[in-house]
Amino acid sequence: MTQEDRTKVWIEGRIVEAAEAKISVFDHGLLYGDGLFEGMRVYGGSVFRLDDHLRRFERGARALGIPIPGGRDGLRQIVLDTARAYGEDEAYIRLLLTRGQGALGVDPTTCVDPQRICIVTRIALYPEEKLSRGIDMVTSSYRRPAPDAVDPATKSLNYLNSVLAKREARLRGADEALILNARGAVAEASVANVFVCRDGTLMTPPSSEGALPGITRASVLEIAEGLGLETRECPLGRMDLFSADEVFLTGSGARIVPVATLDGECLGEKDKGMGPLTRRILDAFADFVLEHGTPIG
Ligand SMILES: Cc1ncc(COP(=O)(O)O)c(C=O)c1O
Repeated sequence: MTQEDRTKVWIEGRIVEAAEAKISVFDHGLLYGDGLFEGMRVYGGSVFRLDDHLRRFERGARALGIPIPGGRDGLRQIVLDTARAYGEDEAYIRLLLTRGQGALGVDPTTCVDPQRICIVTRIALYPEEKLSRGIDMVTSSYRRPAPDAVDPATKSLNYLNSVLAKREARLRGADEALILNARGAVAEASVANVFVCRDGTLMTPPSSEGALPGITRASVLEIAEGLGLETRECPLGRMDLFSADEVFLTGSGARIVPVATLDGECLGEKDKGMGPLTRRILDAFADFVLEHGTPIG
């Protein structure tokens, strides 16, 4: 088992320890990445933006044509019950829906019993000491697929593009990958959205550039507007990162993480650590998450 002992998993109607959570080798989620997932956080005993996550999940399930047993209300209950069983005020939640067991071969019509799984545990995407100093990022040689190949706006279980980009980044000694779209514009990081701050304006690529419409991203845009900062959703290139005052990533797993270097080049003011704008957003985010949660009870 690679997870800490307290991890709880909802599977086939029961909440069990991680070691007991098993799935069929004929599940098309395993065989073909045929399914969906969501990553969420518990902050201060409440699930942050639970309904937004469930709405995105439901939309994704509809796009893939996978019916959700028990619907959105059933999922909501599963998430809250599993989070309560975990019993910590801070946690990471991974919700999955697989196509279910079927015959070998990609034909999804052989799968008649979609499976819901909910994992509640801890997660650390980057080394602790880099969370304030900033992570090192390299530009990936893997490009985000076009929406008519594997739509990056759907959180499907088919994450090989992100996995290979992350593997390449780690092999090159970096923490994270900057992934461009087919036109060479910035899409996002492996599992996080990218923000650039320049002259007090916050910029992030729109989802049409190959970015997942992140819930943390939307929250940061809302927070920035509340702070009176100018925000812009616009296409960005690598040069926009090199010329930025500050660069940071957002995601449910990542939270808000400053980026210190891109391809070995220091971003923003050299050796200054987290920039003032990122710090303001991060401080406001700490309050925001407590105001936008669903108590686990
Ligand atoms: C590819 C990708 N981009 C961005 C994000 C950030 O989205 P959110 O803030 O909704 O977690 C994620 C989250 O897992 C992701 O997988």
